Amino acid sequence: MDYLKITGGTKLSGAIDISGAKNSALPVIAATILSDQELTLTNLPNVVDIRTLLKLLGMLGGTVEHNGTVATINNGSMNSTKAVYEIVSQMRASILVLGPLLARFGECEVSLPGGCAIGQRPIDLHLKAMEALGATIEIKGGYVRATAPNGLQGSKIVFDKITVGGTENTIMAAALAYGTTTIINAAKEPEIVQLCEMIASSGIEVKGIGSSEIIIEGTGQKPLKFQDTEIIPDRIEAGTYLCAGAITNSEITLNRVNTTHIEASINKLEGMGCSFDIQDDSITIYGNNRLNPVSLITTEYPGFPTDMQAQFMAVATMAIGESVIEERLFENRFMHVSELNRLGADIWLKGSVAAVRPVAQLYGADVMATDLRASSALVLAALVAKGDTNVRRIYHLDRGYDNLEGKLASLGAKIERLSE
Ligand code: EPZ
Repeated sequence: MDYLKITGGTKLSGAIDISGAKNSALPVIAATILSDQELTLTNLPNVVDIRTLLKLLGMLGGTVEHNGTVATINNGSMNSTKAVYEIVSQMRASILVLGPLLARFGECEVSLPGGCAIGQRPIDLHLKAMEALGATIEIKGGYVRATAPNGLQGSKIVFDKITVGGTENTIMAAALAYGTTTIINAAKEPEIVQLCEMIASSGIEVKGIGSSEIIIEGTGQKPLKFQDTEIIPDRIEAGTYLCAGAITNSEITLNRVNTTHIEASINKLEGMGCSFDIQDDSITIYGNNRLNPVSLITTEYPGFPTDMQAQFMAVATMAIGESVIEERLFENRFMHVSELNRLGADIWLKGSVAAVRPVAQLYGADVMATDLRASSALVLAALVAKGDTNVRRIYHLDRGYDNLEGKLASLGAKIERLSE
């Protein structure tokens, strides 16, 4: 199994390109099911999760040509509506095929994703929304079976809780429903905006893009014809590299980035004493050798993202006072705490709140990645830990960070991928 060996203590410098957003590419790929014609997606991140979802399209009978950052997809040949356990258990975002399969074919079976390292993560809100659109849902043998033999009917859907994936599934289902669907309390993440814009590019009316109320005029089971789509820059990858600049007190530049999407992270890093030069699609961070402590609460976009919580916790270990970090979205997203403490951090957990006390130095150790963002937090901590850190189970990192070790090495980090 591969692991990363990182020798800490090196300052970073230089510039890197940010890849396309995994969490935008996944719903965009799922949305291609709504079409029976060819389209090309560009700026895909070269990560395992993207390959897994493209493989699923192939298993459903779609035709996929994939080469690095570009995929040409034609789902005209799709002839299966069953997303099997083998794939869904590898990646829970496979649940995103539920809405489009059901809307286009009037039925589908999707394996239930099960629990995950960051929380229970139920899909009840996705299923309720499909029911509100007229589907019958049955759960049997570990699978969700959804049917709507006469197509879905546009409806008003009020989400009890803001859900990114639930909003995405509903937008896709509504696109081929009969009549108008109104989604109240929709998620507003940039990834949702990209999905809405892609759907609108097929000529159907989508109102309220980027707001918490989205209105979609469905086609009544008529497949869509999409424009080719370029995936937006990955705001979480960008935030992670800003944290790399902050924790190592370095000056680094990120190119091909949407700086509006990372305002919450920029704002917190400014409060910690970092400064920035922000251009149209690039940003330079200037570190500070005396980082202030940070206080943050994770929440939905445009608030502070849960997907940046672990990385900020790593940076907070180097601050000159006590930081307080509250996780409000996922009930178990603190698996990195004990691993950071193995590197010498002093982090105390009480319920959903972590207190990060300052330490003079982190020390290299063997640590284990537990989920995608927790893994990147360990890499960040390792960049300043004295000596060598081996980060194991990096298959989590490979799911969502495009060439992490290559990008960090190009900035001067001492990092190598080894096998054991
Ligand atoms: C998306 O997950 C992202 N994944 C996650 O990124 C991200 O952490 C999360 O949104 C929040 O921003 C992708 O986009 C592929 P949610 P998702 O539905 O859609 C509860 C990463 O590291 N909920 O917005 O699954 C849920 O348990 C990943 O890249 C229900 O109760 O998140 C959570 O507490 C990890 N019932 C909250 O809502 C439901 O039916 C928000 O989850 C659905 C969700």
